Amino acid sequence: MPRPITSVADLQALARRRVPRMFYDYADSGSWTESTYRANEEDFQKIKLRQRVAVDMRNRSLASTMIGIPVSMPVALAPTGLTGMQHADGEILAARAAAKAGVPFTLSTMSICSIEDVAENTDAPFWFQLYVMRDQEFSNGLIDRAKAAGCTALVLTLDLQILGQRHKDIKNGLTTPPAPTIANMINLATKPRWVYHMAQTKRRTFRNIVGHAKGADNLRSLGKWTAEQFDPALDWDAVKRIKDRWGGKLIIKGILDPEDAALAAKSGADALIVSNHGGRQLDGAISSIAALPPIVREVGNKIEVHMDGGVRSGQDVIKARALGARAVYIGRAFLYGLGAMGEFGVSEALRCIRNELDITMAFCGLRDIEKVDANILAENPFAVGPKKKR
Ligand code: GLV
Repeated sequence: MPRPITSVADLQALARRRVPRMFYDYADSGSWTESTYRANEEDFQKIKLRQRVAVDMRNRSLASTMIGIPVSMPVALAPTGLTGMQHADGEILAARAAAKAGVPFTLSTMSICSIEDVAENTDAPFWFQLYVMRDQEFSNGLIDRAKAAGCTALVLTLDLQILGQRHKDIKNGLTTPPAPTIANMINLATKPRWVYHMAQTKRRTFRNIVGHAKGADNLRSLGKWTAEQFDPALDWDAVKRIKDRWGGKLIIKGILDPEDAALAAKSGADALIVSNHGGRQLDGAISSIAALPPIVREVGNKIEVHMDGGVRSGQDVIKARALGARAVYIGRAFLYGLGAMGEFGVSEALRCIRNELDITMAFCGLRDIEKVDANILAENPFAVGPKKKR
């Protein structure tokens, strides 16, 4: 009998063995020295919980809402690039696992399966993450395609106008599918499961882009595309234009500073995501969990505040909630599950997180996730005092 999966770390260890190195590395890396990438996880450990005892722990509930949408726990699947390279048809599989678990799935612009692929192969509505491209016709087309597919929220990413440098991607020569170099062939020979599934799908390139954007008929490299196509001129006027064209629920992703949070709240978005892009953009920036309290203080009464970055367990979810986030997103935590075991692995990641969240809440003496606040904390080095009058 295979050994049971008991944590996201188990899935990570399996994914490391089963996913070709360039794609495993793509997920499991940050920019430059990776100090922010590491801080995202490490800072969660600095927050300590209060244990409470002799409270009735029966009938617990993790149910909540995100932007008014019911969720079975306050966790969504983050938009992640190249998901369909962790496992064949990865976006479709992850969307199915999310739907079964009752949590939102967010499809990245830089996905392998397209908006239409996911819509045609899943039943539940999903969210779409937008990168703004220089080619406005193409960007507008993405918004319209997400609308046509019935996506229930648009997640607009603001922190990737330029791509952060991740050393491993450059060294590995990251392309989708992998270029047939000798090093890649040797590595693929050790990943028969990945190759087997990949051989059975036609979805092996950036299908939101190829065939839809001018000059992208045979797009192989994320680095090349982002360098040439991502819009370095993106500003808050563009956010307004996108909001108007979309006309539905809008979530702004990539906010780390209270001043930007205030601008996001002013833009009329429904939520913002406190995020440093998983430590993949500005290395040396503070961790997402450290950035959360001053942002909640600034705009928490105006806009829903979500966060991502470093969430690997249900304990991280409850800590984020205690520091004021309405919900969190998991990226790597579900990618490891996907790379390890496909759809089942994503379900396992969500199961582990739900279980840890539920039991931790009970140990803290609470039965309802909606009641979680700073009262459950014994130590919080990221606490901020009340807002100063300006
Ligand atoms: C975005 O697509 C990234 O690589 O972080």
